[in-house]
Amino acid sequence: LPRDLFGPERRNSPGLAFGDGAALRRWTDAVARAAGPADAAPILDGAVQTGRARPVVSPIDGAALGSVIEADPATAALAMEAAVRGFPSWAATPARERAACLERAADAFVREQGRLLHLLQAEAGKTLDDAVAEWREAIDFLRYYAAQGRDLFGEPQDLPGPAGEANSLRLVGRGVFVAVSPWNFPLAIFTGQVAAALMAGNAVVAKPAPQTPLVADFAVRLLHAAGIPGSALHLVPGGPETGAALIEHPALSGVVFTGSTATAQRINRALAARDGAILPLIAETGGINAMIVDATALPEQVADDVVVSAFRSAGQRCSALRLLLVQEDVADRMIAAVAGAARELAVGDPRDLATDLGPVIDAGAKQRLDAHIAAMTASARLHYAGAAPGGLTVAPHIFEIGGVADLREEVFGPILHVARYPADGLGSVIAAIRAGGYGLTLGIHSRIEETAERIAEALPHGNVYVNRNMIGAVVGSQPFGGSGLSGTGPKAGGPHYLARFATERTLTVNT
Ligand code: NAD
Ligand code: ALA
Repeated sequence: LPRDLFGPERRNSPGLAFGDGAALRRWTDAVARAAGPADAAPILDGAVQTGRARPVVSPIDGAALGSVIEADPATAALAMEAAVRGFPSWAATPARERAACLERAADAFVREQGRLLHLLQAEAGKTLDDAVAEWREAIDFLRYYAAQGRDLFGEPQDLPGPAGEANSLRLVGRGVFVAVSPWNFPLAIFTGQVAAALMAGNAVVAKPAPQTPLVADFAVRLLHAAGIPGSALHLVPGGPETGAALIEHPALSGVVFTGSTATAQRINRALAARDGAILPLIAETGGINAMIVDATALPEQVADDVVVSAFRSAGQRCSALRLLLVQEDVADRMIAAVAGAARELAVGDPRDLATDLGPVIDAGAKQRLDAHIAAMTASARLHYAGAAPGGLTVAPHIFEIGGVADLREEVFGPILHVARYPADGLGSVIAAIRAGGYGLTLGIHSRIEETAERIAEALPHGNVYVNRNMIGAVVGSQPFGGSGLSGTGPKAGGPHYLARFATERTLTVNT
């Protein structure tokens, strides 16, 4: 690996010490000052488009936040055509200038801390803790891809060859990249996709999730103000239909997608059905993430790590723990410790600093989760049901199921499933997880190093966490992404990500 890409010239952004009362007040004041209406609309060639707007409301309390004009398929096509026109001059812009734009955007994200945190809380229902973590991740993506891309896309690399021949290799943008992002990291994932595609020299058409257009719109304005030309970055708010129109457009050169496995498979089929060039798809999707806990694990640590992994962000992280697998000799004790820790969680308004779990994203998500809770209540053993104050909040639940095969779908909320395995049953547990086909995050709690190594070696998961929680991957330290049904790789925030957005050209000159 090119170690210098992690060198001292780039540091991840500092966070917020929640124990420091004065600092915390400065942050909450900044968020309160930045509150106020926001709008989103297609932005093509830097021009905000007009059209019929629909209201955007907060998942916290249904309050009106502003409005969004969604791009219909015809507007999506116009964005693609504008990006085709914008590609050559952006591709010809030296990598150091492209990187400087991203770094200026990172500085702008820092300056606009209050507004971005406000939007993350109001539009996505995040706690301050989660909003800060996401805002930092967005800044880190911008700086990380800038630092890496400056070298990677800078001078061509000379290669050896016979006397009388000069060989070199360079990486160049592919053309028009479509970036499709989810609502659960509406700033960090949106920004990371866009920054990587731009750094590689592509023109970008970005489609945020329909639940979270406001924060994406503001991010695009900051990127443009930082020097990214309007012709290189176009915004098309909208839903699946808008996304499908972008993917079907003949000018498409590549897709970066984060969202559910089913949508990634749909996009993959649409790409395969196209005539012409074979196009790259970078897809980061979901998982049925498990944590394996053996009899040597420390119950208090397990309880802390399980509660953070399963319930933080109301379980709305792709990395979140869905299935806790406990060796049966210690299962009663471990489950009791986890349920005890879950009892401490406060569910409510995420703007209240005492709240641990805010709302889920929308009424559809709540309905699906309530239906799952009802089905599990009828068929599984309930170990814990928390309380929720109404609206779109969902109380944390812990259900015991028979085994790995009993959980067949990613349940995207604060519902933890537990299952026991016999002391001699680790091999079967590993085989059952493998058979499920997902490979995103995996947790292991064991004080036997060989056990942890055996599990990690035997499973294909992209991010494995031993004796700690399994969420919150850090840019440059824990490159993030899975395999199999969980995604194609390469990993976001890792050293191989940028190259996938580019194509390679070898030049051989007979000297
Ligand atoms: P989703 O698949 O419903 O939507 C994701 C995006 O795809 C949205 O912008 C949506 O409008 C768009 N889309 C939907 N159908 C489309 C189509 N046919 N063509 C083009 N675009 C289309 O997912 P979601 O509910 O927004 O997000 C939650 C999911 O995302 C979960 O499964 C979660 O695990 C996953 N996720 C994965 C990661 C990761 O890095 N692996 C990170 C965050 C979220
Ligand atoms: N990258 C996010 C995490 O690790 C999804 O939790």
